[in-house]
Parts: sequence; structure tokens; C-alpha cells
Amino acid sequence: MSINIPRGTQDILPGEVEKWQIIERKARELCVKYQYSEIRTPIFEHTELFLRGVGDTTDIVQKEMYTFTDRGGRSITLRPEGTASTVRAFVDKKLFGTANQPVKLYYMGPMFRYERPQAGRFRQFVQFGVEALGSNDPAIDAEVISLAMNLYKEMGLKRLKLVVNSLGDKESRNAHREALINHFSPRIGEFCSDCQKRLDKNPLRILDCKQDHDHELMTSAPSIIEYLNDYSKAYFEKLQQYLTLLNIDFTVDPNLVRGLDYYNHTAFEIMSDAEGFGAITTLCGGGRYNGLAEDIGGPETPGIGFALSIERFIAALEAENIELDTNQGIDCYLASLGETAKDYTVGLLQQLRTAGFSAERDYLDRKLKAQFKAADRLKAKFVAVLGDDELQNNQINVKNMTTGEQVEIAISALVDYLGEHK
Ligand code: HAM
Repeated sequence: MSINIPRGTQDILPGEVEKWQIIERKARELCVKYQYSEIRTPIFEHTELFLRGVGDTTDIVQKEMYTFTDRGGRSITLRPEGTASTVRAFVDKKLFGTANQPVKLYYMGPMFRYERPQAGRFRQFVQFGVEALGSNDPAIDAEVISLAMNLYKEMGLKRLKLVVNSLGDKESRNAHREALINHFSPRIGEFCSDCQKRLDKNPLRILDCKQDHDHELMTSAPSIIEYLNDYSKAYFEKLQQYLTLLNIDFTVDPNLVRGLDYYNHTAFEIMSDAEGFGAITTLCGGGRYNGLAEDIGGPETPGIGFALSIERFIAALEAENIELDTNQGIDCYLASLGETAKDYTVGLLQQLRTAGFSAERDYLDRKLKAQFKAADRLKAKFVAVLGDDELQNNQINVKNMTTGEQVEIAISALVDYLGEHK
């Protein structure tokens, strides 16, 4: 019996993987422009990190983590997201003490959540994320948002919707929390058992409960915007000013609360409103998390970031019918006719590759016609045909596959010829 791939995971095969590489390359290029440096953290962490970082009343922690006990008896979790790990590394490696502040980092790698798989929702998915640590300037919130927007735009996406909200500072959130408790308390019996637990621990989480989503008290719940104190209000206004200055369209959604506990002040999501994109429209989510470094044992440090998955990025490109150029073709296919010529192409192929060309030859003893077909499939720009007779005269026949033009040149001139006609 054959073994199936686990639910919610994917094999990304040649033909498809090039799309990933194009997006990943673009993301890295943008990070250089915006001056974010890559950080690579482990794929698993102590479970405690996510309990404290992401929050023990969130769906991610309560229902979605891949947690196991290792052979040393430690509780280990496959990372469900990258922010907690990045901040852990920032604290652990004392990056707050380095001269370059704020510390601007990015990551790209697999994350794991035991969610119900559906279109756009996987159990293993790849996030590209950035985190800027050490600045309380709303201009960096705007920078982070603009990086995400520009990445999507540079890949050709047009149907983007940016939604922002403010979750305020501690004082604002405490006032909002009281209001939420007063709002839900009288009828909390009508909510799921998780929400009943959330009421005292973290009533904000009730607002993103998937089960009680349609309860009438949800829409009438007090919004955080009404409880922002002066500092939080001014911060949010400044962010909006900067977004306007950067020509980034946005809408304010007072109901945007995000599914992780560490957020305060800025929260945002970027959605696709392309037809046929499916039920899950969020491409990217992020926000500010000023208390997170402290929560995991570090110094008080402001932070802001976002993460987006490549899976949803590709789905959005498909929904907008944007084709990426995934097969750019090879420079030269070396075809051969005869045993001596076939052997000779082993070394000649090596010469071409060393000289910087992408090149391929036949490994299946195919007839010349089939070798040309193989060259076509590889989108070869040139096919160089070497026969035993030509080899005796040190000649090779080169066909330009775009123009059909054929020339016979000295074998020793092939590298230069390809270089001149590339
Ligand atoms: P998040 O909203 O949980 O935030 O995830 C961010 C993005 O990851 C989503 O918008 C989506 O593109 C992608 N994503 C999440 N779950 C899945 C899934 N099951 N399948 C495919 N894609 C998925 C965070 O993870 C925060 N760490 C973001 C952040 C960074 N906040 C501040 N800094």
C-alpha cells in the first residue's frame, strides 16, 4: 500500500516551485531595500514560548499546536508563527544591546497549525514575515505595512484591501475589557464553553470565536476605538497620516482584533477581493506588540511586524490570472549523433556550465529528433549538434531556436558564440 501525504500539507513540484522562488526572491530583494536582515530560528521551540507569546486563550494555542514531549521529557512545539521565536532570539541574543536600532528582521519558513484544511488553509504553510524591534515611531508601522503592500503590488496584484485598526495601549484595552465583560456577561450562557472561559481571562478573544461568530451580541459589542485614550488615538491618527502620505489606501475596521494575544496599537490585515479567491480572504496580518519582549523575559521593547503565507499569495495571483514566468528556458542543449560525439559532450557540457551557461544533454540514448524535442521542452535558446564527422573536423553545428538560423563553427568557439548571441 502506498503512503499518502499528510492532510493539510503539499508537495511543491517543479513547474510550481518556480513560482515560490520568484516570490521569495522578490521578498528578499525588498527586504534589502527596506533594510531588514534575515533571521533563521528553529522550527521547534519550548511550548512555553507560545503559551506566553501567542497567548493561552487563543485558538492557535488551545487547538492548533503540534506539541509533543521529546525524549528528554521537554514539551516541544512546532512553531505556529514566527513572531514569538524572533522576539525570543532578540531577547536571548541581546540584540537590544547592539548599536543598530531599531533591529529590523525578516524570516521565511514553514509554520505548523493543526487547523481544518480547506482552500488557503494548510497544516504546514510557509510564512514570510518581518519584525521591527525597538521603535515606537508610527512611521515604522507605516513602513512595515508599505513593505507588505509593495511586495504584493510588485508581483502584479491589484485587488488588495488594507484594513487597519488600533487596539490601543494597556489603559485603553483595560477600559475596553471592562466594557466587553459588561456586554457579554448577562448572556454568556448562550456562548460556547471556550468563550465562557474567555470572558474573565481575555474577553477580546470572544470577538474572533469561529463558533459564535454569528451571535447577535457580536455585532453590537463595544468597539475598542471608543475606548482609546489620547495617546493611543494620536498614535493611530499619525499612522493614518503616514499611510496617506505613502499613497496607501486603507479602511478602518473597528472590529479587526486579530487572533493572537500580543497585539496593541496598530493591527492590520491585507485581503484580496478578487472574484473566485475563496472564503478565506486574508493574505497578510500583522500589528504592534509592545509587551511581547517583556512577556518572554526580556526588556520592555516596542515591536511591529507582519506575516503572510506564500500559499495564499500564489492563490491570489491565480485569482487575478497573473502568470509568473516560471520557465525561462536554458541557454544551450547539446545534442549528439554517434558514440564518440556522445562521449565528447560530457566534457563540453561541463565547459558550457563553467562558462556560466545553463546547459543540458541527453541521458537516455535518444535519437536526434527526440533530442530536439527534449530541447524544445526545456525551451533551449540554442541546440548545438555534434556528430562523429563534425567532431573529427573540430566543428559543431549550432541552431538558433528562435530564428531557425544554423551555423557551423569551431567547437572551441562555442562558448564565445553563445556569449555573443545570448
Ligand atoms: P496570522 O494572522 O496568524 O499572524 O498569520 C499571518 C498570515 O499567515 C495569514 O494572513 C495567512 O497569510 C498566513 N496563514 C496563517 N495560517 C495559515 C494556514 N493555516 N494556511 C496558510 N496560510 C496561513 C501571525 O502569524 C503573526 N505572527 C503575524 C505578525 C508578525 N504579527 C506581528 N508580526
